[in-house]
Amino acid sequence: MRSFKEYAQLVNENLPSALPKAGAFDRELLEACRYSLLAPGKRLRGALALAAGEYAGAPLERALPFALAVECVHAYSLIHDDLPAMDNDTLRRGRPTCHVAFGEAMAILAGDALLSQGLLLMAEAAARDGAPAVRAMEALTKALGIQGMVGGQAQDMLSERSDRADEAALDYIQANKTAALIRAPLLAGLLASGAPARTLQAFSEYGLQLGIAFQVADDILDVSSTPEALGKSVGKDAEENKLTAVKLFGLQGARQRLLQATRRAVQALEGLPETAFFTDLAEELCGRSF
Ligand code: IPE
Ligand code: IPE
Ligand code: MG
Ligand code: MG
Ligand code: MG
Repeated sequence: MRSFKEYAQLVNENLPSALPKAGAFDRELLEACRYSLLAPGKRLRGALALAAGEYAGAPLERALPFALAVECVHAYSLIHDDLPAMDNDTLRRGRPTCHVAFGEAMAILAGDALLSQGLLLMAEAAARDGAPAVRAMEALTKALGIQGMVGGQAQDMLSERSDRADEAALDYIQANKTAALIRAPLLAGLLASGAPARTLQAFSEYGLQLGIAFQVADDILDVSSTPEALGKSVGKDAEENKLTAVKLFGLQGARQRLLQATRRAVQALEGLPETAFFTDLAEELCGRSF
């Protein structure tokens, strides 16, 4: 296994190849896609796909299409999340958001294009590598839609209208809008690399808990960090009446929830060999400041 930094670097090196070359009429669309996709992100999801693939003992090439695909669909989710009709944000990855830079229509289309491109990368891998890649594509595609990110985003928007202390809704939002797309690249990397059922089961729970912890930390940072550190606006969750861990449990309660999810992530891998990369990552993300 390599370090997180090395996996993130591999994602960064290969990410430009996820997009086609511009032709006569798609220049602006591709520029908007590149602007958001190649902006400095943590590359957590792509790195998880690569790390999971290596953990399963396969060459990196097996997991690489899924690492690039998940970064494409993640970038799409961020572009749409920032739109005026959703979170109405103007700063992302230290830059003006896609709709501020390119206009709303082009931002919607760049999101659509990045989603399609992610699916294409996975379909190409499935056509080339057969059944394991098909199963990996199935896992990642499922995590994107109604039973995943989009479902979670829909409830996130609906919950803005309510002040009910609805813990079940918060659990649903965090598990779906965020954890689904953190768990899925782990599963895709493992599936594409032929990991056994026991490994998949343990990583499924690890990914869910890591994803919940990641979103709780994001909720905490929204009230405790700065735009300079995060590269995005702060204080927006309260402004938009978002149902977050901080709104429901307070800052101290949210920190407890973060520790609990991190502990559960680490516990999920007990019994599997050589999981230090993943357990260390969970601990590091628990204390993240950006
Ligand atoms: C932001 O994800 C959206 C959430 C799920 C909180 P990241 O914090 O991973 O964003 P980037 O990729 O580093 O920009
Ligand atoms: C968004 O959650 C999760 C996505 C699916 C993009 P947030 O709305 O809290 O993410 P940020 O804070 O804008 O990055
Ligand atoms: Mg949002
Ligand atoms: Mg947002
Ligand atoms: Mg947030």
